Amino acid sequence: MELFQTGTDPWGQEILIRISWTLLTVAFWAGIAFILFHAIYAVVWKPKVDHGSEPAKAPAGIPDKVVRHTGAARMFHWVMAASMLVLLATGFLPIVGLEFAWLNIHWISGLILLLCSLYHIVHASFFLDFWSIWILPADLGEAVQRTKRQLGQQVTLGKHGKYPLDHKLYHLAVSVFGLLVSATGLLMMLRIDTPIIPRNDQLFAEGTWGVVYSLHGFAAVLFVTLTITHIYFAIRPDKLWMTKAMIFGWVSKSDYLAHHDPEKWKVGSK
Ligand code: HEM
Repeated sequence: MELFQTGTDPWGQEILIRISWTLLTVAFWAGIAFILFHAIYAVVWKPKVDHGSEPAKAPAGIPDKVVRHTGAARMFHWVMAASMLVLLATGFLPIVGLEFAWLNIHWISGLILLLCSLYHIVHASFFLDFWSIWILPADLGEAVQRTKRQLGQQVTLGKHGKYPLDHKLYHLAVSVFGLLVSATGLLMMLRIDTPIIPRNDQLFAEGTWGVVYSLHGFAAVLFVTLTITHIYFAIRPDKLWMTKAMIFGWVSKSDYLAHHDPEKWKVGSK
């Protein structure tokens, strides 16, 4: 399987152009395979989780509706989701054969995604509980327990704070590859005519542009897998309580107590 597309420069030397679009097919089918595997595994094999002993009674002061996402956080999420879907459609539909004027819609959505990400970084750093989404040394115990469970063992998985380990891993991947696709996308705007950045093809040598295009393409195809799996989890019946929270902002007290450790995600904290 070819991983890259190559060409020749004016001196006849082989240069990198971009990734091979076979990787798009691989990323798509990897997402579908993951869904099938997970759906079957969840029904036939996944051992029941033991969350340890339940607290004798719920701690005092927990409201019936526990705020999970503020209005600003929800707005960020949905604008980002819309721009991501537009970027995927405008980036990949022409590659799979649906020709249309994609480029302007693409870079404008790209700038919207970038502005959203910058807004989110400031909002999360100063107005949200910044550390709640990052993998910390304390998460290693959960990683070991989850791996054992994946291997079929019955484990006691303590309740987590606001975000469990798998959410933190997903967020890490989206952050890293989101920044990569945005930084390379910004550079690629120098190769096209836009009213925002003056064209400057000469900034890099052709081979270096090939590296930029390859990084953009690699992060872009990864987002195909990441988006497919994200939507799958969002519409799974057992996860709908979280999806509803991204629409309405809150989770019920019973869902909060069933999934979260009140010591680790203190209600009333942001
Ligand atoms: C996950 C999000 C994104 C996806 C899936 C995506 C996908 C793609 C794909 C498949 C291409 C064709 C690349 C090629 O021909 O080698 C492309 C080109 C391009 N992308 Fe993105 N992209 C994303 C984000 C962005 C962002 C954030 C920006 C701008 C800030 C951007 C700006 C561009 C530009 C300017 C081109 C055209 C370069 C050219 O034709 O010379 N993209 N994108």
